[in-house]
Amino acid sequence: MPAQLRALLGDITTLQVDAIVNAANSSLLGGGGVDGAIHRAAGPLLLEECRQLGGCPTGEAKLTRGYNLPAQYVIHTVGPIWQGGQHNEAQLLAACYRNAMALAARHGLLSLAFPCISTGVYGYPAEQAAQIAVAEVRACLEQCPTLEEVLFCCFSAADFERYRQLLGQAIQTT
Ligand code: AR6
Repeated sequence: MPAQLRALLGDITTLQVDAIVNAANSSLLGGGGVDGAIHRAAGPLLLEECRQLGGCPTGEAKLTRGYNLPAQYVIHTVGPIWQGGQHNEAQLLAACYRNAMALAARHGLLSLAFPCISTGVYGYPAEQAAQIAVAEVRACLEQCPTLEEVLFCCFSAADFERYRQLLGQAIQTT
């Protein structure tokens, strides 16, 4: 069975999935936004492991343990900074989703949750980013036979509505 794709509204650090994806910066040494929240919830050992990784280029992804998080692993990826759209931003954002999915497949993960990469501090227009996220994850599913569920963890009602529409997901009443 192909993996289920689902949008949800909430804090990614609370999710009990095999891996959550972090929208990091290329130092991998923490920051604000979802990156800061993940490091706070995981505890200092996450930063210690990240220090060993030697950073991460934009569009690529690296895996660490999740430490105090309910998620077993964190897949750190670095989204592009929006510079108007003519600087390879779309390709780099797609590569974030593709490389995170590839790591999930390589580690035989069953469930994975993404934040809305690049749409906070990095300024990527939310609708364009959501379209890329959903299209790229769908395109990668065939190469990820172990994945049963991919969650798009939205932090605003507007993003949740956007992903719900893109995924054709009904409103949940419970
Ligand atoms: N759970 C889920 N989503 C969240 C959470 C959370 N706890 N907190 C924020 N978001 P951003 P970027 C959403 O700025 O644009 C950091 O400093 C947020 O509302 O976290 O890729 C890094 O170190 C938005 O929709 O990441 C980098 O320097 C989305 O996560 C830089 O920010 C991404 O917003 C990366 O910028």
